[in-house]
Amino acid sequence: MRTRVMTAVVTAAAVAFVCTPVARAEDVKETFTKNCTMCHGADLKGQTKVGQLRKIPDLTAADVRAKFDRSRMIKSVTEGVKDEDTGKEHMRAFGAKLSGAEIAALVDYVISGAK
Ligand code: HEC
Repeated sequence: MRTRVMTAVVTAAAVAFVCTPVARAEDVKETFTKNCTMCHGADLKGQTKVGQLRKIPDLTAADVRAKFDRSRMIKSVTEGVKDEDTGKEHMRAFGAKLSGAEIAALVDYVISGAK
């Protein structure tokens, strides 16, 4: 009997976990607003104070978008981006703060042009 109750509890938990969408559109937008807009701007153009200071690329520009590579972008957000020559940090690493699923959703959000 005890085992059966446990099984039911575990099954219910597993079903709840599987059925919870990993990242809903509004959540992604909120996560982006909290962590990313201060540099990239809500419109991804990087026209923020920090953006201008750090010469943040306009993530909506055709030449930048042409070089988009989802797995590289996920790596950039997870591990951060440093200047290859000076080692100076361009973008901080978010791997410790956000989950892999959140980062993937954010990158898809950027790829979609913040839609
Ligand atoms: C401190 C300012 C700053 C913050 C905060 C920031 N970024 Fe960036 N981001 C940059 C800079 C600078 C670059 C350009 C890096 C480079 O290539 O030199 C960049 C580049 C990128 C790129 C392109 C990477 C590539 O490999 O092409 C993506 C995607 C990106 N950011 C997403 C995000 C997301 C998502 C967040 C929030 C979780 C975020 N950024 C937060 C400064 C920032």
